[in-house]
Amino acid sequence: MGYLLGLDIGTSGVKALLISDQGQVIGSASQEYPFYSPRPGWTEQDPEDMWQGTITALQKVIEKFQVDPKEIKGIGLSGQMHSSVFLDNTGSVIRPAILWNDSRTTKQCQEIEQLVGKELLLEEACNPALEGFTAPKVLWLRENEPENFERVRWLVLPKDYIRYRLTGEIQMEISDAAGTLFLNVREGRWSKVIMEKLDLPMEILPPLVKSSQIVGGVSQAAAEATGLLAGTPVVGGGADNACGAVGSGIVQPGRAMMSLGTSGVMLAHLEEPNLPSGGTIHMFNHAVDERYYMMGVILSAGLSYRWFRDQLGQMEQVMAEQLNTDPYVLLSDEAALSPVGSQGLLFLPYLTGERTPHGDGNARACFFGLNASNTRNDLIRSILEGIGFAFRDSLELLQQAGWQGNSIRCIGGGAKSKLWREILASILGLQVQTLNTDEGPGLGAALLAGVGTGTFKDPSEASDAILSVTSTIDPNPGWSKVYAELYPIYRSLYPALKPAYDNLAKITV
Ligand code: XUL
Repeated sequence: MGYLLGLDIGTSGVKALLISDQGQVIGSASQEYPFYSPRPGWTEQDPEDMWQGTITALQKVIEKFQVDPKEIKGIGLSGQMHSSVFLDNTGSVIRPAILWNDSRTTKQCQEIEQLVGKELLLEEACNPALEGFTAPKVLWLRENEPENFERVRWLVLPKDYIRYRLTGEIQMEISDAAGTLFLNVREGRWSKVIMEKLDLPMEILPPLVKSSQIVGGVSQAAAEATGLLAGTPVVGGGADNACGAVGSGIVQPGRAMMSLGTSGVMLAHLEEPNLPSGGTIHMFNHAVDERYYMMGVILSAGLSYRWFRDQLGQMEQVMAEQLNTDPYVLLSDEAALSPVGSQGLLFLPYLTGERTPHGDGNARACFFGLNASNTRNDLIRSILEGIGFAFRDSLELLQQAGWQGNSIRCIGGGAKSKLWREILASILGLQVQTLNTDEGPGLGAALLAGVGTGTFKDPSEASDAILSVTSTIDPNPGWSKVYAELYPIYRSLYPALKPAYDNLAKITV
C-alpha cells in the first residue's frame, strides 16, 4: 500500500490528511495552535507554533493509522493565504506572522495605490490593494518596526515556511505568491516594476516553484522530529483556496465552489486570466498549471458562527459534551426553529472587516432590526442568513464576470449543516451540492503530491477520478421569495453605516 499526505496549515490549526495512492481518503489528525489579537483589528500567529503543530499532527496521523513512513510516497502542503512570515539571514522567524484577516494596513493600501497606481497594480498583480494581502504588511513593517524590517532576508507564506522546515529549501509556490501583490499573475513571475515602485528589494522574494513540482525531500532533522522518512519527496503545494478547488473538483470551466471555513470563499475556475471589474473579486493562479480562478472572500464566515458559539453558546457547549455531539449541531437545530428571515433580524458578518465586495478594513459586524419578538434562535439563524447574503454579494460579481453555472459545490465545516445549505441555496438561487469528501484543501494538497510523484497525470484527472456529488439541495421557493425582499435591505446597510465605521475606527484603533 502507498500513501500520499496533504498538510493544511490553516488558521485554527494544522491538519494532516492521509490518502491512499488510489486517491481514497484514509483519515486525518489535527492539532490546534493559538491565534492572537493583540489589538482590535490585528491578528497574528507564531510560525513556530505552526511548525510544532505540524510535528504533532504528523506524529498523530502516523500513529493513528499505523503507517510505515516508507510507504508515504509524497507530501503536499496547503495553507492560509497572504499571512506574512519574515525570515532573517539565518532562516529564523523575525516576528509573529501578520494574518490574512488582519486589518491594520488601510494606510499602506492607500500608499500602494498611490505609488504603483491602481491601473498598473491591476495590470500586473490582477488585484487591488486590500488589507489582508501581503504587500501592505511589508510596508507596515517598514514604517512601524524598522529594526525588524532591516533584518528581513526572505518573505514567505505559512505553508512555504512549513515546507522550508521540512526540506530546508526556501521557496514560494506560485498560487500562494499570487496573493502577495508582488506577482505578475498573468505571466507567473515576480513583478520587478511593483517592487521598484514600492522601493522594496527583489532579493526578499524567494525562488518561485509550481504546485505539483517536487521541490525537495524531507531533511534528516525534520525526519527525526516528525517520524517521516528522510528523503520523502515534497511538492510545492498550493494556497488553501487553490487546493480546496483541486480537492473539490473545481478544475474545469463552469464549476464553482463555496467554502465555509473561518473565511467564506466563493470561487470559480478560469481557463484564461479574466480580470473581473469592480475590484474586490480576486483573480489568482490556480494550483493547476497555467489555469486561474476568480473568487470573493468573506473574512468572517465560520468565524462569525464560532464567535457566537464561544461568546454566547456556553449552553450548547455544555450540552454537546453531555450528548457527545458537536455544539454546531445543536446551534443549527436551534436556528431551524426560527422562521425564514429570522423575524426581521439581519446580521452583517464583518467581525474582522470586510473584503468582497466593499474591501473595507474598518467595517464591523452588527445585528440590525433587533426587536422585542426576537429569540436567541433568531440570532443564530440570522448569522447563517447574513453569511448567505454576503455570499450573494460575491455571486453577483462572479456572474457579472461571466460565471454562468446553476450549481455550486459546498465544502468546509459549515457544509455539514443541512439547514445552512438550504438557506444558501435559497439566497443564491443555486443548487448546493456536497461531495463524497469535504476535505478540500488537505485533499487537494495530497493529490498534488500524487501528480508530482507520478501517481496521477494531472490535478483534474486526480480529482475527477475520486470525487462524486453525494447530495444536492434545491432552493426553497418560499424562502427564496423572502430572501429576495431582504437582500436589498441587507445591501443598503453597509453604505448607510460606512461613515459610522470610519468614525469608530478613529477612536478604537
Ligand atoms: C483568501 C483569504 C482566506 C485565507 C484563509 O484571499 O484571505 O480565504 O486563505 O485561509
